[in-house]
Formats: sequence, structure tokens, C-alpha cells
Amino acid sequence: MQQGIAPKGVQDSQRPGPSISIVSTMAQSGSFWAVFVVVAILGVAAANAQLSPTFYATKCPGAVAKSAEVVRTWILKDRSMAPALLRLHFHDCFVRGCDASVLLDSTIANSGEKDADGNKNSLRGFEIIDDVKAKIEALCPGVVSCADILALAARDAMQVFGGLNYTVPLGRRDGVSSFAWEANNNLPPPFADWTKLMSIFSTKGLSSKDLVVLSGAHTVGFTRCSTIQSRLYNFSTTIPTDPTLDPSFVPLLKSRCKFGSSGIVMMDLSKTTDTWDFNYYSNVLKGRSLFQSDDALKRTTEGLKLVQAENKAGGPFSADFAASMIKMGNIQVLTGTSGQIRKKCRVVNA
Ligand code: HEM
Repeated sequence: MQQGIAPKGVQDSQRPGPSISIVSTMAQSGSFWAVFVVVAILGVAAANAQLSPTFYATKCPGAVAKSAEVVRTWILKDRSMAPALLRLHFHDCFVRGCDASVLLDSTIANSGEKDADGNKNSLRGFEIIDDVKAKIEALCPGVVSCADILALAARDAMQVFGGLNYTVPLGRRDGVSSFAWEANNNLPPPFADWTKLMSIFSTKGLSSKDLVVLSGAHTVGFTRCSTIQSRLYNFSTTIPTDPTLDPSFVPLLKSRCKFGSSGIVMMDLSKTTDTWDFNYYSNVLKGRSLFQSDDALKRTTEGLKLVQAENKAGGPFSADFAASMIKMGNIQVLTGTSGQIRKKCRVVNA
């Protein structure tokens, strides 16, 4: 078994289906390519069909409700953990698929995903996943995967946080490997442009719409000031502050994140309480989003249209977000007899 590891005591807590319009194309042309595409589409559908919302209905009937109950208790105590759990699921799925590899403690110092640049001292919520897992293990030992618990916890937390709701397909199994270098290569950096973002998302089978919609998660949560220091104070040798930021927004952001600050700042500064809404898109359009990767979404004609479409009261954002989360939760899942059901989410089974 391959695995990377961290010294004990690493501070974890610091912080649908495809369209079938191709059938008419086939009828018209009968071409090889149309047949090929249908076969490919059926393949994708079959992969998705491996997950099912009722996967544990007979194997562990209480699992889904137990996750909701335990997560609810945590979020009612500290609602800032909800965005953290949402991000944990994203960082799991983008690195060797949704297999809970992000939860494994490194076995050799700093070698696992947890200790990658984009994760260390940044990802939060591991203790909540441990708690949900322990309580579900007490109900049904060895049945419910850590990967499914991550997917459920993200949904459950955001439901309590802001009413986000969707049905989570289940049946993922857990991986046995975790590598920091894979996380470094697969997680999008905050300075990524549209081309870089699309190259990462398309590798995962996600579209430009998924990119714009899932980035809307930055309407909640916090970032460390260290992540935006260079954008604010050291942008280039000649320009201290990123000129794409709204100049009337810069003083507020600088007051929240002073030079050299090790503090944190809310992602959406247009409000005083952290709430689930579509404000992110208006921030992006105004130059008030925190990362260059957020700003990049409006820098192509395609991206700009998608941002504008989500920036509507009573608009599609929450429904689109739910659909993209389900798609994200399908990335490279292990099913059937692949992988294992870990007993503890931080270590592979002996
Ligand atoms: C599109 C590319 C993305 C980039 C470049 C990106 C980058 C980042 C960065 C740098 C942070 C702050 C980390 C820190 O300072 O500690 C962050 C926070 C966050 N991200 Fe993203 N992210 C992206 C996409 C996503 C997606 C797809 C989701 C979820 C579906 C997501 C959810 C979040 C949440 C909720 C937070 C706040 C976490 C907290 O409060 O602990 N992000 N992201």
C-alpha cells in the first residue's frame, strides 16, 4: 500500500446525465463517430449509475440520517465549519477522485495530500469527519466509506449553513494512497487564469459552466490573508496592487488584511454575516473577488456570459450548484471491489 504521511499532531484544525440528442444525429448520418459517441456516453452514464442515493438503504439504513445529525450538531456550534467541509470534498475529488485520499495522515513526513501547499494549515474539518465516521461505524462497522461521508458531510453542512439541498449519490469506496505532489498538480492555484482553470476542470470531466458555478462556493468561507498578500502588496516589480481589483474596494481589503498579516478574511466582504447567496458573481463583475482565479472567470466571452447568468436574484445559482456538486462527486470514484472501506478515515486498513 502506498501512502504518504505527516508527523503526528499536524494541526488539521488550523485552519446529469448526458443529453441524448446525439440519437437524431445517428439516424441522419449513421456514421461511425455517432456510434462511437453514443457508446462513450453510455460508458459515462454507466459509471455514474454505479453510485445511487439508496446505496446504504439496506446495508446501513441509519447512515445518511446519522451523518446529518452529527454534522448538524457541529455546524450549530461553529457554522464556519460548513464552508470548510464543502472545500474538503472538493479537494478530495480533484486529487485521484472522490476516494477520501485527502483524509489520510502522511506516513512519511509531508508526503500526503493533507500536507500539500494548497492544503496544509488551510483545510479544516477533519475532526468532524472523524466524529461522523466513528458514529456511523458504531451503527454499521465496515460498511460506509469515508469518501461517502465526505460527500454527505459537505451537503449536510451547507444545508444547515444556508439551506443548500440535493440528494447525494452514494457507493464510493476509499483509496489507499495519498501524495502531496498529486495535490500540488491537481488543485487549482488562486492565481490561475481561465486556460489553466479549464485545463484542470476539463481533465476531471467538468465543463466551463461547472467551473463558474462551483467557483460560486467562494460566496462563503474565509481565506488566509497570506494567500492574497502578493495581490495586495507585491503584485509585480512595478505595480504593488493588482490593478484588476476595484480601486474603491482595495482600502477595505487592505484594512482587513494588513501587510504581513497572518489573519483571515471573509471571502465575500459585501456582507457582515457569512451567508449562502449569489453575491460572489456580483463581486467578480465589480473586481471585488479575492483571488485572480475568481477574476479570471469574467475574462473570456464564454466565462463572462456564465458569470452574468448566475448573477440573478431568483436565478439558477443554487440549483446549478447542486447539479455541479453531484457531477464533481462522481469524479473517478472507486466502486464495487476497488479500494476498501476504511475503518478510520486517517489510515488505511491494516
Ligand atoms: C476554481 C478554482 C479554485 C481555486 C483557485 C480555489 C482557491 C481557494 C483558496 C486559495 C482558498 C483559501 C485557502 C486559504 O487561504 O487557506 C479557498 C477557499 C475556499 N474554497 Fe476554493 N478554490 C477553487 C474552487 C473551489 C470549489 C470548486 C469549491 C467548492 C465546490 C471551493 C470552495 C471553497 C471554500 C468553501 C473556501 C473557504 C474555506 C474555509 O472557509 O475554510 N473552492 N479556495
